[in-house]
Amino acid sequence: MVMKKRMVSGIKPSGQLHLGTYIGALRHFVEVQDEYEMVAFIANLHCITVPQDPAELKKNLTDCVALYLACGLDPEKSIVFLQTDVPEHAQLGFIVNCHTYLGELNRMTQFKDKQAHGEKNLSGGLYTYPPLMAADILLYSPDFVPVGEDQKQHVELTRDVAIRMNNRYGDIFTIPEPKIAKVGARIMSLTDPTKKMSKSDGINKGCIYLLDTPKAARKKIMSATTDSLGQIKYDPENQPGISNLIQILSSLTGDRPFAEIEQEFEGKGYGEFKRAVADAVCALLEDIQAKYNAIIASGQIETILAQGAAKARAIAHPKLKEVQRAIGMEIVEK
Ligand code: TYM
Repeated sequence: MVMKKRMVSGIKPSGQLHLGTYIGALRHFVEVQDEYEMVAFIANLHCITVPQDPAELKKNLTDCVALYLACGLDPEKSIVFLQTDVPEHAQLGFIVNCHTYLGELNRMTQFKDKQAHGEKNLSGGLYTYPPLMAADILLYSPDFVPVGEDQKQHVELTRDVAIRMNNRYGDIFTIPEPKIAKVGARIMSLTDPTKKMSKSDGINKGCIYLLDTPKAARKKIMSATTDSLGQIKYDPENQPGISNLIQILSSLTGDRPFAEIEQEFEGKGYGEFKRAVADAVCALLEDIQAKYNAIIASGQIETILAQGAAKARAIAHPKLKEVQRAIGMEIVEK
C-alpha cells in the first residue's frame, strides 16, 4: 500500500471563523484531503493564550468543528479533533519549548505586535505559543503545513527548532514545509485594507464571519473601503481595497486569474464590481450555513471528535515516546 503524504494544520477559534481563515487556510484543508492525509485540529490550547469567556469559547469551538465539516472536511478521509483531546500536544510543546531560544521567541512578530500596541498583561502562554504550534506540527511528521501568510514565521521557527533537535538527538523529526497559496494567503480588512482581516477587527465591519447573515455580509462588502481611481485593477500598493476584493472574488471562483476579472469589469463602476463580490461571498455563506445547521442538528460532533482524537493519538503517542526516549527522559525502553 502506498502511504499518502500528510499535511497538518489548525485554526484557533479565539473568535468566530471568518472569510480570511476560510480563504487562507480552511478551503485548502478540504482541497487536499483526497491526495493527502489531512490532520486538521482545533487549537483550543492556543485560544486560551488570550483571555476568553468560557461560554463564548465553548460556542466558538463547537462552531469551529461544525464549520470544518460544513466547509467540506470529511472525517472519513481527514483526521479532525480538538487539540486537548490529544495531550501529547501539550507534552511535546513543553519539550520543544525547552529547545527554543528566548531570542527566537523575542523575534516572533505576532507577540511583538501585541506588545507594540501596548496590550497589558500579556500571558506567558502567548509568549510560548510558537513552540506549542511547533509541537502540533512535529507530532505528525507532515510533509506540508497549509497556512496563511501570517503563520509563515511560526512554521519557519518549527523548522529551525526541529533541525536543532535532530542535530542533537538523531533524526527524530521530519522537517515540515509551509504551504502558502499564491492567492488569498492574506485577506485584508474591508474597512482598512492595509491590515489583515481578523477576528478582532474593530466593530467587525471589516471582517466577514462565516456565520454572518448573507444580508450583513453584503452590506459589509458594499461599504468596503476603496479609492477614487475608478478602475478595477490588481494593484495592492495604490488600490489595496479593490485588490483585496479581486483576491476574494478570485479565490471564491476557482482561483480565476486576476487579469480575467480586470477584463470583465473594465469600464464598469465599483458598485457593479462589489455586487459581484457580494454575490460570490453570499453564495458561499448560504452553502456553508445550510450544512452547518444540519451538522449542529445531527448531534454527531462528539462522536466525530472522539474518533478523530483516537486516530490522532495513534500517530502522536508513538512520536512523543520516540522523542522522550531520544532525549533520555524514559526509563522503560518500550
Ligand atoms: P488562526 O486561527 O489565526 O488562523 C487560522 C488559519 O487562517 C489563516 N488566516 C488567514 N489567511 C488569509 N487571510 C487572513 N486574513 C487570515 N487570517 C487567518 C492563518 O494563516 C491560519 O493558517 N497559530 C495558528 C493556529 C495553529 C496552527 C498550528 C496552524 C496552532 N497550531 C499548527 C498550523 C499548524 C493560528 O493562530 O491561526
